[in-house]
Formats: sequence, C-alpha cells, structure tokens
Amino acid sequence: MIDIKEFGIHEGISEVILSTLSPEGIPNAAPIGLHMNDRKFFARIYNSKTLDNILGNHAAAANIVDDPFLFVQSALSDIEPGKFELKEGFPFLKDTLGWIVFDCRCRKGENISVVELSPVRSKILRRKIIPVNRGFNAVIEATVHATRYVVLKEQRYMDYINYYDTIVQKCGSPGDKDAMKLLFDLIRLYRLKI
Ligand SMILES: Cc1cc2nc3c(=O)[nH]c(=O)nc-3n(C[C@H](O)[C@H](O)[C@H](O)COP(=O)(O)O)c2cc1C
Repeated sequence: MIDIKEFGIHEGISEVILSTLSPEGIPNAAPIGLHMNDRKFFARIYNSKTLDNILGNHAAAANIVDDPFLFVQSALSDIEPGKFELKEGFPFLKDTLGWIVFDCRCRKGENISVVELSPVRSKILRRKIIPVNRGFNAVIEATVHATRYVVLKEQRYMDYINYYDTIVQKCGSPGDKDAMKLLFDLIRLYRLKI
C-alpha cells in the first residue's frame, strides 16, 4: 500500500512531471496536473505525446520534481535521453525526488482525455525542506501560460508570462532565472517556426 502523503500529495492538483514510454521505446516527459479527489487519482490530458504513450502502454510515472529548468524544458521541448534513468524498462527522471508508477485507464475524448491512475509502485529518493518561493511558483505559472501561447498564439498569454517574469526576477533563485531564460528562448524558437 502506497502512503501518498509521504510524497507530499494531497487532495487537489499537484504539478508533477509525467514520464512515459512510446511503443518504439522512446522516453518522454511532460508536466501534468495530478488530480486527487476522494483518494482517487486522475489526469486530464490533451492530445500529446504523453497521451499517445499512455494509450500505447497504459503506464505513466509521476516524477516529483523541484527543478524549474526541468519543468520548462519538458513542457516546451524534449528532455534529452541522458536525463532519464531506465528501471525495469520504464523511464524516470534522474533528478526526481521520488516517483509513483501508475496503471492508466483512458477515457478518450476528442481533444482531451481523462486518464484514471492506479498507483502500483513508488519510491522516495530524496527528502528536502522546500520553503515557499514566489519565484519558483511564478516559473510554473509562466510555463503553463507558455504552453498555451505556443498553441493559441494569443498576446494575453505573453502578457501573463511577462508579469510572472517580474516576480521571478524579484524573488527567484539563479535556477529560476535560468529556467525563465530557457522559456523565452524556446518561445522565440516557436515564433521562428510560424
Ligand atoms: C505546470 C504544468 C501543468 C500542466 N498540466 C497539464 C495537464 O494537466 N494536462 C495537459 O494535457 N497538459 C498539461 N500541461 C501542458 C503540457 O505539459 C504540454 O502541453 C506539453 O508540451 C505536452 O508534451 P508532450 O507532447 O511531450 O506530452 C501542463 C504544463 C505545465 C507547465
């Protein structure tokens, strides 16, 4: 029996990085909101590599991560293979504080699917005291808006990103500022592709 509270996960939505494996054996990672409601877990996932992989092999691992760079990189580009560790054939992020592997049952929708998640095994690798930091939280908010901006190209998302950047510059760690730099660089790349 997995004691989910040990992972700092409680009712509501926890932002994790979900790692999955494609049918061809290629690892993927993306930030996804892990919903917990009445001790049941689920995710609402838009059409994406993560969803394709879950539809392919019905498994995903929630990586509990406190690295802002990994959130930005996995949301807006691909994580390089060297940042994954394969255990029993499944990919986890090397820098994870802990992971939970889920069996996945997918109710497929046209644009968004509901994935019911049943925990099967887990591990805590590192325990850390993490004080609340507005800079880190602002990177996460900016990254959510960046994933919307690259799809919908609406200026209001850039305005939100610039607002959260002011908080990162005021309160964030050097790592948070590096993550924001990566975010702006990756957005610029998307703009060049349009
Ligand atoms: C903090 C955070 C939470 C996110 N939560 C979700 C989510 O719950 N469902 C979803 O479909 N996308 C979510 N996203 C967006 C995906 O991470 C993003 O679309 C990503 O590019 C998907 O990558 P993939 O194609 O490699 O799966 C979230 C992004 C961030 C930054």
